[in-house]
Amino acid sequence: MDVEVVAEIDRLPIDLLAHIFVLFSSFTDLAQASGVCKKWKQGVMESLAHRHNLSFENRKMDDESTARLVYHAYNLTKLDMYIVVEMLGPRSRWDCQITDAGLLRISFAKCVSNLTSISLWGLTGITDEGVVQLISRTRSLQHLNVGGTFITDESLFAIARSCPKLETISLWSCCHVTESGLLALVDKCQKLKSMNVWGTRVPQDCFNNLLIISPALQLIL
Ligand SMILES: *[C@@H]1O[C@H](CO)[C@@H](O)[C@H](O)[C@H]1NC(C)=O
Ligand SMILES: *[C@@H]1O[C@H](CO)[C@@H](O)[C@H](O)[C@H]1NC(C)=O
Ligand SMILES: *[C@@H]1O[C@H](CO)[C@@H](O)[C@H](O)[C@H]1NC(C)=O
Repeated sequence: MDVEVVAEIDRLPIDLLAHIFVLFSSFTDLAQASGVCKKWKQGVMESLAHRHNLSFENRKMDDESTARLVYHAYNLTKLDMYIVVEMLGPRSRWDCQITDAGLLRISFAKCVSNLTSISLWGLTGITDEGVVQLISRTRSLQHLNVGGTFITDESLFAIARSCPKLETISLWSCCHVTESGLLALVDKCQKLKSMNVWGTRVPQDCFNNLLIISPALQLIL
């Protein structure tokens, strides 16, 4: 942005700035805007309270900054954290900065009980410990994506206990889950319509057993 535009915007009151920042969809843009000056930073923090969804590319995030933003987003219902894999070029890597410590901090944010959708897609740095902590503080969850993580049945049992409203779940490539976790989930989450189990290592019999409990369940294999 050129200097004149910044000077014009600088005359706007903070709430108006906040309304502008609500339109930013990328975390990187928000982070840059909050670095411009104190007033813009206040505008960004205020804009977080208006947001209903927030998405983070894990590549640019860490536990501390993610948790700080989620704390300010009181009205959040949809939280997307996912990993971006850079396939091209020498900087190709799969590095993960969100850990259980971040999930633990996020679990205490006010918005957690109102989240209807959470994605932790591909966060390879998290384990059951963080997932169980976060999930057990949700009350309204309808959609959960834990694909590509190393969770086990322990997380599935927590989901079965805490998410009676769950409608869709992705367990894409969760190779440590077993039949007993899946059975608990399908048994307790009676609104479950769709479950992505591609790349899990459970035997075919298990899927038949799930369909006996819930004949209308859509299994994505
Ligand atoms: C939070 O969401 C509710 C319902 O959509 C809305 O009425 C309220 O104004 C929002 N609060 C903020 C600070 O945006
Ligand atoms: C995020 O929320 C905004 C408005 O709050 C909406 O326009 C946008 O479609 C939402 N994006 C997603 C991915 O849900
Ligand atoms: C959660 O949602 C309920 C009902 O929609 C609302 O009354 C409550 O204020 C919300 N809580 C937070 C922390 O936003």
